Amino acid sequence: MAEQWKEAYDFAVQVARAAGAVIRKAGEEEIKVQTKSCTVDLVTKTDERVEKIIIGALKEQFGEGTHCFIGEESVSKGQPCILTDKPTWIIDPVDGTTNFVHGFPFVAVSIAFAVNKELEFGVVYSCMEDKMYKAKKGQGAFCDDEPIQVSDVKDIHKSIIICEHGTDRSPETVQKIFSTQKKILCIPVHGLRGSGTAATNMCLVACGAVEAFFEIGIHCWDIAAGAVIVREAGGILLDVDGGPFDVMSRRMVSGNNRVIVNRIIKEIEIFDAVRDDAP
Ligand code: IPD
Repeated sequence: MAEQWKEAYDFAVQVARAAGAVIRKAGEEEIKVQTKSCTVDLVTKTDERVEKIIIGALKEQFGEGTHCFIGEESVSKGQPCILTDKPTWIIDPVDGTTNFVHGFPFVAVSIAFAVNKELEFGVVYSCMEDKMYKAKKGQGAFCDDEPIQVSDVKDIHKSIIICEHGTDRSPETVQKIFSTQKKILCIPVHGLRGSGTAATNMCLVACGAVEAFFEIGIHCWDIAAGAVIVREAGGILLDVDGGPFDVMSRRMVSGNNRVIVNRIIKEIEIFDAVRDDAP
């Protein structure tokens, strides 16, 4: 990573930690829930407030004109979701909003930074567990300043795979999700899991707790920071069809090695998800 972004990286860690403290506090109070794209796509005042805090702090530090911002809640209010060559922050203020609403203790602040459409660094603060995952391009991945590494398991039969269900409840999509999960479970693998936050799921791949995580329907803000962390921990990222990973495509397989990832890809039943940057 170009040394010039070091200050931005350190600042992102600081901002993510402060944002996490706001989320923890808000979790102790009454949570008012609203919905976005459908009845199971939840949002709270905390999502909006925390995004404002993060973007406000970044703008104050780095200037409004030179840096761009893609934030989950700003995009849902109509802001563009386009990755250009400009320095761009990709932010999910509360990844795992459903968990947050229910008090299920996995919620993350996810902040990534891209320049020339390349992800330079990622920070994922799992705020209920108080775990800070972070990585800069070319400089390794860390959890609470300890280096982390993906698992060395090559035998799929000895793996744990994370899959999520997302928010699309159309029967055709749900059928494909469950059919994929059934095929993977029956390979057989040791188990299937899901934390309810894509950012945290990717960190679980990065620290070797599971071998892979895949999902169709996630957004760039859910996975951009985690993508850097997985790569820097020695893992790989691919599209669900085996092609190159594209952070705007809403499809992703992350895993500890190619053997495991290729085996998972063989079983995935692909369904449509409109790209984040679709006009
Ligand atoms: C969601 C979480 C979840 C994933 C969904 C995401 P949000 O993000 O990452 O794990 O399955 O696809 O939308 O809405 O809580 O920020």
